[in-house]
Amino acid sequence: MLHEQRTAIVTGASKGIGAAIALRLAQDGHAIIANYASDEVGANEIVDAIKKAGGQAIAVQGDISDASCMPRLFDAADQEFGSVDVLVNNAGIMRLSAVASTSDADFEAHCAINIGGVFRGMREAANRMNEGGAIISLSSSVVGLYQPTYGVYAATKAAVEAMTHVLAKELGSRDITVNAVAPGPVGTDLFITGKPEGVIESIKEMNPFGRLGTPEDIAAAVSLLVGPDGRWISGQTLRANGGIV
Ligand SMILES: NC(=O)c1ccc[n+]([C@@H]2O[C@H](COP(=O)([O-])OP(=O)(O)OC[C@H]3O[C@@H](n4cnc5c(N)ncnc54)[C@H](OP(=O)(O)O)[C@@H]3O)[C@@H](O)[C@H]2O)c1
Repeated sequence: MLHEQRTAIVTGASKGIGAAIALRLAQDGHAIIANYASDEVGANEIVDAIKKAGGQAIAVQGDISDASCMPRLFDAADQEFGSVDVLVNNAGIMRLSAVASTSDADFEAHCAINIGGVFRGMREAANRMNEGGAIISLSSSVVGLYQPTYGVYAATKAAVEAMTHVLAKELGSRDITVNAVAPGPVGTDLFITGKPEGVIESIKEMNPFGRLGTPEDIAAAVSLLVGPDGRWISGQTLRANGGIV
């Protein structure tokens, strides 16, 4: 049985998929810690929207590649709302390039944010999350599609899936579920930036539904996994992608 007032930390909640997850989990009754790195305006807009709808939320700045970030997010949740029931490791970056031309700096940034940030979130949750909790980490359906230029990004997401499956086995005895959600292409800044319109159209055509995913499609999958109907789903990667792979 889940207690009534639940608190969720959502990393990268200032825009895109993270913003939709924060709004959806607030609608579902969670108090929200909306983390952002640089977009304070975007994060505050999400917090205001949640409050206007009668929910509770605060924005907390923090770079998830910084070791002090996750403890601060959990401290903020404890101070404002009492404890943490849900962690959504959503924040991530994607810089595409062929392996041959990927710089050390881009490789290190992917590892520090997409793996390091998720690892520290998982570790903090493993030590501090309430029984009955849920940890979701965003992977990607490029794990499976393996297209050119996605090498380093896909490798970081494969690492997220591996940690998810192991952590599920470590936390089941505390009634904490651990899952990954792996979207296909979703129409956010991360996906759209730098892609010509023709490329986006051809990616839409690859999908059986003939469209990109929306942030709300992904938020709905997260809502299912962290809600009362998701308690027997753990150690899974849910490919929320319209059947593209
Ligand atoms: N869009 C897709 O097609 C797609 C597909 C599969 C998986 N995903 C995954 O879904 C997640 C969200 O992607 P999105 O498309 O919503 O991306 P997005 O629109 O680019 O938004 C990224 C969010 O992450 C935050 N962020 C980036 N680096 C951060 C850091 N070091 N510390 C804290 N926050 C940081 C950004 O914060 P600021 O704005 O404040 O800087 C922003 O809120 C990512 O993990 C991505 O890999 C996306």
